[in-house]
Amino acid sequence: MAIPGSASAAGPDTASPWWLDGVVYQVYPRSFADSNGDGVGDLQGLIDHLDYLAGGPDSLGVDAIWISPIYASPMLDGGYDIMDHTTVDPVFGTLADLDRLIEECHRRDIRVILDLVMNHTSDLHPWFVQSRQSRTGPFADFFLWRDPSGWDRDGRPEPPNNWLSWFGGSAWEWEPRRQQFYLHTFLPEQPDVNWRCAALRAEMWSMVSGWLDRGVDGFRLDVFNAFLKTAEMPSNPEISADASTAWDSQEHRHDKDHPELHDLLAEFRGIVDARPGTATVGELFTSDVEAAAGYWAPRHLVFDWVLLETAWTAASFRAAIAAREAAWSGRWPTIVLSNHDRSRHVSRYLHTLGRRDRATADAVAKAAATIELTLRGTPFLYYGEEIGAKDIVVARSRARDRAAVAMAGWWNRDGSRAPMAWSGGGNAGFTSGTPWLPIPRDATSRNVDRQRASERSVLAHYRRLLALRRGSVALRTGELALVDVGDPDVLAYLRRAGDEATLVVVRFGLRGGEIELPPAPGPWRVVLSSHDLATPTVGSRIAVRPLEAIVLECVVDAIRG
Ligand code: GLC
Repeated sequence: MAIPGSASAAGPDTASPWWLDGVVYQVYPRSFADSNGDGVGDLQGLIDHLDYLAGGPDSLGVDAIWISPIYASPMLDGGYDIMDHTTVDPVFGTLADLDRLIEECHRRDIRVILDLVMNHTSDLHPWFVQSRQSRTGPFADFFLWRDPSGWDRDGRPEPPNNWLSWFGGSAWEWEPRRQQFYLHTFLPEQPDVNWRCAALRAEMWSMVSGWLDRGVDGFRLDVFNAFLKTAEMPSNPEISADASTAWDSQEHRHDKDHPELHDLLAEFRGIVDARPGTATVGELFTSDVEAAAGYWAPRHLVFDWVLLETAWTAASFRAAIAAREAAWSGRWPTIVLSNHDRSRHVSRYLHTLGRRDRATADAVAKAAATIELTLRGTPFLYYGEEIGAKDIVVARSRARDRAAVAMAGWWNRDGSRAPMAWSGGGNAGFTSGTPWLPIPRDATSRNVDRQRASERSVLAHYRRLLALRRGSVALRTGELALVDVGDPDVLAYLRRAGDEATLVVVRFGLRGGEIELPPAPGPWRVVLSSHDLATPTVGSRIAVRPLEAIVLECVVDAIRG
């Protein structure tokens, strides 16, 4: 399929753009590897483990890392509350460490994607510290200040409109010094910036250029579709009093997805596009797959949440893939099963299956990985999923995720942010100190060292899948078509490019059975099974065991020869 602006359209110097056929690995830096014993992961810890990711014979084989924020932050929202976008928080290291990380990544052909939070800052950011002082001064207009809509009977100011914070309550906070409210789509300590202020815009663009000058290869844009709001800030329509969250009780007509956002993104993309080899991925904030696809541009991916929100049944995945293919036709989607904001997919799928045992966890992790690494799009792996990591349980009273705690009734995101299990030793080889979150309880048996030593591990399956994908044009860039193999419990799809045809079949349930393979110009050959290391040639039917994922190739050459 020809992606507008991709390899063929963009010219020979971008013959195989990494954003199109590479695999990205998300690192949550607090939890990846701690080098200095303070219990929190850091940049040196990440540098120490780069060979694990790429560049060596035993490496996983990813093409890029996206690092969740490493900037100076009071960490009320895990670093997504930034007080200086141009420095590294001391808990992670120094700018010199970041320079070394970029250099070490590039030596291994790993691209570095930084997380850019440009919808809001921390309230400790010097811009906001000054902005809240008075209505005049160089930073007065950097944030979204509004007068009260009125005063209640007790003389208290009333918010300018009905907008809500995603984390709960009104999106407006009163500042007595200015006698005005400021807007915060997230925590009150995360004021939204004013993108209509030319000076703010100039500061942001200069910061973006600064990171590009330092050698980063791209950015993940946090909640980018909330950057611009309707200038007059009218109230949002109330749509449902019994929605599952307060946020969903409103139609967010005025606080995100503003039509002028496309112009703002074009300015940003202009800066990035001036640097060859760079790319970005935008995090869509509470909108649907059509909206995600509508923001896409060559070199600029956009996350949608369809797969991440799909339950572990063949029917749900079939519907999700059909919806994605329809929305992303002629464009290039991302593939995401887990991230730092949601429960890990192995935990979710085990819950659906009503199982907790280790063998089922491994089987479902391998089956899910097979889908993730063979669908059409750019896969984003979340650290630890390659060893089948599950959520940890952190009591609300001990939660480190202050933002989630603020959001009454919401899941505590600490669950999916556990320290990486490197070994079966003390603190799973993550830290020599006291880890900032509990080590996963199964870390003595589920860890990188143990899985490296076994060809049958989840990690070995990920490595095989990544190698298979790398060597297959059909899997990297081919078209996708769903196939009906006559068994409602089996998902099947074809990937095709030129003479190459690859068939993926996955059984979601716990009862096995045979399926009919679709007709092909040559015999089907198994190139990978999540249950077996052997890869036999098969006839027109194949047995698919419980939770088994099989990748087959059509051997067209065998006929020709
Ligand atoms: C994004 C981040 C999330 C954060 C939110 C507000 O959704 O992924 O972790 O809480 O933005 O900054």
